[in-house]
Amino acid sequence: MNYYEDVLGLIGHTPLVKLNRLNKGLKPLILAKMENLNPGFSVKDRIGISMIEAAEREGLLKPGGTIVEATSGNTGIGLAIAASVKGYKCIFVMTDKASVEKSRYLKALGADVVITPVSAKHGTPDHYVSTARRIAAETPNSFYPDQYSHPANPEAHYRTTGPELWEQTEGKITHFVSGIGTGGTISGTGRYLKEKNPNIKIIGADPFGSIYKTYKETGKIPETTPYLVEGIGQEVLPGNAHMQYVDEVMNITDAESFDTARQLGRVEGIFCGGSTGTNCAAALRLAHDLDENAIIVFIVCDTGEHYLSKFHSDEWMKEKRLLEPQKITAGLICDTKGARSPKSLVVVAPGDRVADALAKMNELGLTQIPVLEDGESVGSLRENHLLSTVFNDRDLLEGPVSKVMEKGFPTVDVDTEVNVVTRKLRTSPAVLIEEYGRITGIITRYDVLDTTGADVN
Ligand SMILES: Cc1ncc(COP(=O)(O)O)c(C=O)c1O
Repeated sequence: MNYYEDVLGLIGHTPLVKLNRLNKGLKPLILAKMENLNPGFSVKDRIGISMIEAAEREGLLKPGGTIVEATSGNTGIGLAIAASVKGYKCIFVMTDKASVEKSRYLKALGADVVITPVSAKHGTPDHYVSTARRIAAETPNSFYPDQYSHPANPEAHYRTTGPELWEQTEGKITHFVSGIGTGGTISGTGRYLKEKNPNIKIIGADPFGSIYKTYKETGKIPETTPYLVEGIGQEVLPGNAHMQYVDEVMNITDAESFDTARQLGRVEGIFCGGSTGTNCAAALRLAHDLDENAIIVFIVCDTGEHYLSKFHSDEWMKEKRLLEPQKITAGLICDTKGARSPKSLVVVAPGDRVADALAKMNELGLTQIPVLEDGESVGSLRENHLLSTVFNDRDLLEGPVSKVMEKGFPTVDVDTEVNVVTRKLRTSPAVLIEEYGRITGIITRYDVLDTTGADVN
């Protein structure tokens, strides 16, 4: 028989996957370390069990004990998985920046979750780390791992991630790229790889607004500014960030991180979180200046599932103004129309009574409506034109729509870019959207103005 004793046996030994399309034109071999394939779908599974077993050995965690930790989510998941196998309780403190998927995930694993405001400054009572410390102090038989300083965090990567990369690349790895949150991944893996070959370059990928790049280059901690990527970057230097193993830190914007993470799914089939996008963007930038002898490995920190309501959602990206204008399509405009528009397409048929069509437009507050026959656009009604027509000949009210309709609105495919839609709206008050040969939506001039701020005229 072939089985694992428990789910913890699935942690680590994650494969490397070669990039084939995103790196087009670049010479180095670029490999993704698939930490999203851990049982909790992140790199943090490695440190969850590592910190728990260290605490058990040191007598800090006893049967029936409660684990309390401040986490952006993934460490919580790693701890919760190990805790559920071993029978411990968990309380996690997260900020309201962390995705709702992560807090639901933690609850599904049996943990209690406390949410604090992301705006609380480090050191103040509401900060998520201070809150976790306080809860730990108030909870009997509790253990506060503190991933930011616990030596078992970098040690897990020194013991497992580093050796795996060395073996998987047969010692040929030349560059290792990782985000820096607590610093555990880059410090432990970096130390191991440097001990094997001091020429291996260890590259930190850091969001603009975080301290690491400035700290590495000047030794000073700068003022931080907010950014949206989760799990990496810092406002203070954690004990586990051993920057002596890091050769260089690259700053990556939120827009580039999210765009790269989305591309990884679309062109490589690697469905990942935003910090993976940060790492991959840094790896690609690095590859520009390297030749075919370079072998770059970057960490796929976690799964995209945690961010379906965030950067993997076009609506969220648009709200944060992170979606490039050329990527706004007819379908997106239609999907994100304000609440004033009916959710499904409202149409009339050429044989409908004009009075009924007018009543429908009135009731729904529509100024124009398409006329469809057998799913084809055959005409349109515009309120102004229709009212003046029936005003002059009231008998038309009882007649069919076909008698009073104007020419049909033009049709565009759902993937048509906004500039094409805008051009059509110069000569027509609305365009219809076609999806797989079926008319599914309508865009008016107002919708485009509302979505893009575009100059329609
Ligand atoms: C999504 C994600 N990526 C990257 C990291 C950073 O890893 P480390 O804390 O080992 O520096 C974290 C840490 O919380 C994370 O949650």
